[in-house]
Amino acid sequence: MIPIKVIILRDYKSLSEKAAALVAGTVRANPAAVLGLATGATPLGLYRELSEMVQKGLVNFSCVTTFNLDEYYPINKGDPQSYYSYMQRYFWGPLGISAARAHILKGDPDDAFKECRCYEQRIRQAGGIDLQILGIGVNGHIGFNEPGEALRAETHLVGLSGETIAANSRFFEKAGDVPRMALTMGLGTIMKARRILLLAAGANKAAAIREAVRGPLTTAVPASLLQAHPRVTVMVDREAARRLIGRGA
Ligand code: PGA
Repeated sequence: MIPIKVIILRDYKSLSEKAAALVAGTVRANPAAVLGLATGATPLGLYRELSEMVQKGLVNFSCVTTFNLDEYYPINKGDPQSYYSYMQRYFWGPLGISAARAHILKGDPDDAFKECRCYEQRIRQAGGIDLQILGIGVNGHIGFNEPGEALRAETHLVGLSGETIAANSRFFEKAGDVPRMALTMGLGTIMKARRILLLAAGANKAAAIREAVRGPLTTAVPASLLQAHPRVTVMVDREAARRLIGRGA
């Protein structure tokens, strides 16, 4: 196995700049790149950096195709808490990506199973994902692939773990408002991406990062399976790297 490349950055700003340089470099090299995208708090700095680069004319995303990792279920795309709304606000809008090139799972499909199957098909038809951006949950999840005895390879409907509901309640008025389910790319969908960039910031991610990068491959830490991927870069700030360096207390 090729060890995961870990880049430790001073702080969240440097992490976001470094990640933006990698994503912009990918798009400059291939203006029609297919990007897999994450939501949540971690990639917001990266998306802000990229928006600024686009505004300054330093890179052009108009031919890029994007696929999001996941979406809550059930949720209407017009709901301000949907990942559709997040993407519109922080990525597709500011980066000038047309609706035809912006893909996300529908949070209120008539048939969730069919929606998942079609999503896999759309990724295949686009030629697969060139660069997948990931965050990581405090419990080691990627996308909404939660720790457990088994993981699913393909896009699927999943119940969210108590830890994830608690972590995501910070974006909602109260924990009771967090949807209990989601549609997510599976581990296989993620592992098929040609390159993966995982971002983590903050001390609350330190344990998950250590397990993901140094721990055994286990479904108890879904991110640990990334060790079997040939081209993963992990960018972390000092806090998230705390248990990777030194004796790792
Ligand atoms: P966060 O979420 O970026 O909001 O911490 C990451 C994740 O749950 O994958």
